[in-house]
Amino acid sequence: FDTGALAGKTVYITAGPTREPIDPVRYISNHSSGKMGYALAEAAVDAGARVRLISGPVNLPAPARMERVMVQTAEEMLAASLDGIEGCDIFIASAAVADYRPTSVAEHKIKKGAEEIMELHLVKNPDIVATVAARADKPFTVGFAAETQDLIDYARSKLKRKHLDLIVANDVSQPGIGFNSNENAVTLVGRDATLTLPQTSKRQLASQLIRHIAEQYTKTR
Ligand code: PMT
Repeated sequence: FDTGALAGKTVYITAGPTREPIDPVRYISNHSSGKMGYALAEAAVDAGARVRLISGPVNLPAPARMERVMVQTAEEMLAASLDGIEGCDIFIASAAVADYRPTSVAEHKIKKGAEEIMELHLVKNPDIVATVAARADKPFTVGFAAETQDLIDYARSKLKRKHLDLIVANDVSQPGIGFNSNENAVTLVGRDATLTLPQTSKRQLASQLIRHIAEQYTKTR
């Protein structure tokens, strides 16, 4: 049997981007590679957890030792996140979910017209991590905040607004860290303390994050 810090615990992790279709050949998305989320999933398994990795479209192989659910859109990611959530102890939202999706998906490829300006109407996607954190049987919920300015202030306001237990503040304006790189540097922000984790590989950083998350989780239960 396993004696790690998360032995016997079920951890859900969202990773990668979402892809919101415009028509059969086009979509709205972002630069998330899934590397941070996949590294967190590996670290959580190493700590003894049962892991469900809920992944948007990425180029990473299916990791061993865990369940991976592949999704495309934010709505699909939400459904996969709520499936079995009653049994989830810790929820970590590292995915870069598209905030908006096209109001409708064209059935056929949209043709280029004569107009210079083309308008696309968008509607807000459900907030996955906030939906999870609003539940009566809320798991210990950890979000990420990808920011290009006022990192800690914005992270703290997301922590409060989304009713999270912890938030990982990620400055995505710095070269060499954040989206798609192999390294990252973050500040872990809690209700009354912050902890800066300097730049290192996403694998290394994930182990440090899982250790701190397990510690805080244990304190609150
Ligand atoms: O995938 P990589 O290339 O390794 O890059 C890692 C990363 C930069 C994507 C990652 O470290 C990171 O910062 N992830 C969060 C990206 C993001 O979209 O953050 P946000 O500040 O927009 O969202 C705040 C939080 O709400 C996040 O936990 C996000 O998963 C969640 N969210 C946002 C919108 C939405 N509709 N549902 C959500 O659950």
